[in-house]
Amino acid sequence: MENLQGGELATKKQSKCRLLLFPLPLQGHLNPMLQLANILYSKGFSITIIHTLFNSPNSSTYPHFHFHSIPLSLSQSESQSSGVDITAFLNSLNTKCAEPFRQSLAGLLSHFRQTNETVGCLITDAVWYFSQTIADELKINRIILRTSNITCFLAFSYFPLLRKKGYIPQQDPQMDDEVPDLPPLRVKDIPTVKSTDPETLEKLLNNMIDAAKRSSGIIFNSCDLLEQSELIKLRRELNVPIFTIGPFNKLFPAAASSLLVQDRSSISWLDKQEPKSVLYVSFGSLVTLSKTEFVEIATGLANSGKPFLWVVRVGLVRGSGWLEGLPDGFSDEIEGRGYIVKWAPQEEVLGHPAVGGFWTHSGWNSTLESICEGIPMMCFPIAGDQMVNARYVSFVWKIGIQIEEKLDRERVEKGIRRLMIEEKEEMTEKAMDLKRKVDDCLKEDDGSSYRNMKDLFAHILSFY
Ligand code: UDX
Repeated sequence: MENLQGGELATKKQSKCRLLLFPLPLQGHLNPMLQLANILYSKGFSITIIHTLFNSPNSSTYPHFHFHSIPLSLSQSESQSSGVDITAFLNSLNTKCAEPFRQSLAGLLSHFRQTNETVGCLITDAVWYFSQTIADELKINRIILRTSNITCFLAFSYFPLLRKKGYIPQQDPQMDDEVPDLPPLRVKDIPTVKSTDPETLEKLLNNMIDAAKRSSGIIFNSCDLLEQSELIKLRRELNVPIFTIGPFNKLFPAAASSLLVQDRSSISWLDKQEPKSVLYVSFGSLVTLSKTEFVEIATGLANSGKPFLWVVRVGLVRGSGWLEGLPDGFSDEIEGRGYIVKWAPQEEVLGHPAVGGFWTHSGWNSTLESICEGIPMMCFPIAGDQMVNARYVSFVWKIGIQIEEKLDRERVEKGIRRLMIEEKEEMTEKAMDLKRKVDDCLKEDDGSSYRNMKDLFAHILSFY
């Protein structure tokens, strides 16, 4: 944080400029957008957050921002977001928010014109594709924040090509074949999402890519060294300025925008454990598991004999309240060795000296947070960008392993042994090495993210 605060990057022009930010109301998207807002604010920009009342950020945590809500009425199943058909949900959000957003943005722009305040640009989540047309109509530049990694966005932009070449829909027997246009992704790593309506998914992705091509630029919560050749390809493909200025969590923690209460007893439990001995287990905010998978995970954890801290979110197990599905005798077996919470202060957990490994669903925020602490991962991706992240963790950066086959207790136990015992030293060394390189990206003057940030600010200031 100290790299960015204060002097050099803050200019007088920035301090007279207001930016309007519009996050997608899901945890994994809200966190990076609010982290970005804090980064921009620390550099002198004024910030207005336009948000839905559904999953709205806690404005009292950010007294330095202005908040402006737009109405959104969701069906009961939609408002549970975890476990819904994500494609249908995101489409529905884009449709339902369009008119309220148009009215709000028009109102805000007129207000700031009257008060003589300069509005630099609109920054929206990439998924809000509808907002490009509205930004064009209201003559304001739109920059996109893509909250996931570069390769996934590149793959989305190749979807029509992948369909033409027969890689989508993914099918046996080619699942293990490498996709020539996207090495080292295999067919099974293509970031698709299980949907009742695959055509709608492709329409959503095409709309998102099309709107990105018409935007004034894209910000990635990533840094140049993680996906260098993919970044070059994406620049060529989209032909808009791209700014890799992350990882944001090195600059501002995500905890402030947590929608759930983080159980701090996890930290006092970790305080009592041996250094690097604990496996942290969490599958993020959206993933759901079947009752059978839950039992296999629990049994594998118990059989591994290793200490673990496990986040079991309410709603994680389909058709179950919270822990009712645990196998008989589980609590006795893990007594003193296992600890379960509903939601944890994840970044603090990953930075705790007792944590030695992370079993993750490979969401991009979790992946970055783990990289930033030098913690090796056991990846269990379910869908979308998680497939890509897991491939990079295990195959490209070699800082983890991936469970690729159907989940069962033996595979869980074997995976934990590899991560926490057999390959621990080697993977931790590699993870620490990557952490140091990523740290360097944020160094003042010669760090790539630092330089890209300066370019981003100059780009925004060139709009008016
Ligand atoms: C979703 C998608 O699943 C993910 O693939 C995509 O990259 C972003 O959107 P989510 O599943 O929530 O996100 O995963 P992830 O991206 O890892 O974000 C989870 C966030 O919640 C992280 O910032 C993490 O620190 C936080 N978290 C998680 C907590 O604060 N406490 C927890 O107990 C678990």
